[in-house]
Amino acid sequence: MEHVALKSDIRRLLKERNAVLLAHNYQRDEIQEIADITGDSLALSQEAARSKADVIVFCGVHFMAESAFILAPQKTVLLPRIDAGCPMADMVTAEQLRAWRVGHPGAVVVTYVNSSADVKAESDICCTSGNVVNVVRSIPDSAEIFMVPDRNLAQYAARMTGRRLSWWDGYCPTHERLTPADIQAARAAHPGAPVVVHPECRPEVVAMADAVLSTAGMYSWCAKSPASEFVIGTEMGILYKLRRENPGRKFHLAARSLVCPNMKLTTLEDVRESLVTLTPAVTVPEDIREKAVSALEAMIRIPRDA
Ligand code: 13P
Ligand code: SF4
Repeated sequence: MEHVALKSDIRRLLKERNAVLLAHNYQRDEIQEIADITGDSLALSQEAARSKADVIVFCGVHFMAESAFILAPQKTVLLPRIDAGCPMADMVTAEQLRAWRVGHPGAVVVTYVNSSADVKAESDICCTSGNVVNVVRSIPDSAEIFMVPDRNLAQYAARMTGRRLSWWDGYCPTHERLTPADIQAARAAHPGAPVVVHPECRPEVVAMADAVLSTAGMYSWCAKSPASEFVIGTEMGILYKLRRENPGRKFHLAARSLVCPNMKLTTLEDVRESLVTLTPAVTVPEDIREKAVSALEAMIRIPRDA
């Protein structure tokens, strides 16, 4: 089926099902185009929690749909591609976190939202790349803080807050591919263009950037900047809205390798099929959900970083 026909089918089905389509900023262009709401992990979690729809179609990866279900268990949460996972979320398990806690009673565990429901259930508070600094600042100075699973986000938070943190050794394989040599090459190719990167990038890349922001933060930062060209160090899906919202300005991906295969899985056909069959639905067992929800709700209460 042509994109135009698929899109009108999807719009009709969304209405019939009283469904809302949420899409992460890394999704394919045509998915972002048809979404009711596009956003970063924080915005999409907030939307899932407050939405009046009966059905949430989550175009993103598995942990995002799981978080939506944890926050809104009365809704049907669809993940059109059940195989869309996040390798970083799979790098730590609840058993490993429980084992770590044995030696550190009283530590505050800050868990990046890119994690499984089981891991969130063992955590004190979650964070996203949009509010990690404020989340860490909300914790008393005297507390020991442990961050899972992203070592790069943790090092960014330590640098921004001046706090002594320890962290799990996980990482995002997509952002990890961006190297200092890529940044040097991009600066040489686009002299004067500010370099904006995601905090999932390696610390040595973060240290070279002009701004370090979540995907939503990048939209507002670039919109306010007087620059006419930018080098963007995050997954290539972000370029769709950056270019659409800033006509006449140029956005260069910092490296061609910045593609997350999981974020690219969902197609318009998958979304249509999911709305027809109301599958695959993502759920979380109630005992896990009950424990995970407080960490997620605590995250949602913390404002975005400035
Ligand atoms: P944000 O959109 O919250 O910055 O998330 C980045 C990411 O890698 C999501 O998987
Ligand atoms: Fe996970 Fe990285 Fe892909 Fe985000 S971009 S879903 S963190 S692998």
